[in-house]
Amino acid sequence: MSEVGALAYEALRQFLVREVAIELGPDRQYLVSSRLHTLALRGGFSSIDELVFAMQSGRRRDLIQGVIDAMVTNETFFFRDKPVFDTLVTSVIPRLFEQRRGDNIRVWSAASASGQEPYSLAMLILDRLPNLAKRLSILATDVSVEMVERVRKGWFSHLEMSRGLPPVYQKTFFQPAGDGFQLRADVRSLVKSEVLNLIRPWPGMGPFELVFLRNVLIYFPQQYKRQVIAQLERTLLPGSVVLLGTGESMLGLSEKFETVRLAQAQFHRFAP
Ligand SMILES: C[S@@+](CC[C@H](N)C(=O)[O-])C[C@H]1O[C@@H](n2cnc3c(N)ncnc32)[C@H](O)[C@@H]1O
Repeated sequence: MSEVGALAYEALRQFLVREVAIELGPDRQYLVSSRLHTLALRGGFSSIDELVFAMQSGRRRDLIQGVIDAMVTNETFFFRDKPVFDTLVTSVIPRLFEQRRGDNIRVWSAASASGQEPYSLAMLILDRLPNLAKRLSILATDVSVEMVERVRKGWFSHLEMSRGLPPVYQKTFFQPAGDGFQLRADVRSLVKSEVLNLIRPWPGMGPFELVFLRNVLIYFPQQYKRQVIAQLERTLLPGSVVLLGTGESMLGLSEKFETVRLAQAQFHRFAP
């Protein structure tokens, strides 16, 4: 199948910024071609341009979602930024429970990809703070329908299992399933997974005590980053904690957070 043409490339670039705030640079034609190849074949299109123009007509919601699913970057792994998880379990989460005095803690993994992030937290809680597991709920969301379905299944390939997961956790929390492993039902039951586009309104979200917003805003233009943080602030309580990816910061996005550094990990505490 030939490479994407200039007109289709421009149409796709505008579509991705408008729909999901993802900015494609000017020279990423190879990326588009490799990511949309299978979708074009599966849909019976003779070229990627044909797929893009069919999607652009707006009549095929399935194509729109298929292109979004294919174009987002889903890179993730278990216990990504390990010091963050260590500090969460040793100090941040116990402190949040103290503040809530008997109430539940609601966690949101916004842009959870295939689920390694929310499930790392779920396993850690079951292992290290088992008495608190009943008082903690985790919501995982992503704009990709394919990713949301994966989180619901809690299934991971051998390669995914080899990235960041302690072997003892594999033994304790997973069972072999098909050509990979599935999380035990009690771990899966801690995580609820929904489709949510961060650049659209989020009616009824929150309040959350802890939010993972990691490695997603890096793809967004500045005005969308600000819009997401402004909306996020409305879902937080004073003292709620937000986690960004390593190298990401609130600089230029909001002044309502204080940055706290604890044992090589960085947290953003909501202080309105
Ligand atoms: C690189 S992954 C990050 C996964 C995880 N948070 C981590 O740090 O390992 C980025 C995720 O953001 C999602 N995403 C991209 N644009 C989005 C949007 N507008 N709304 C919600 N999720 C989005 C992608 O589908 C992808 O799964």
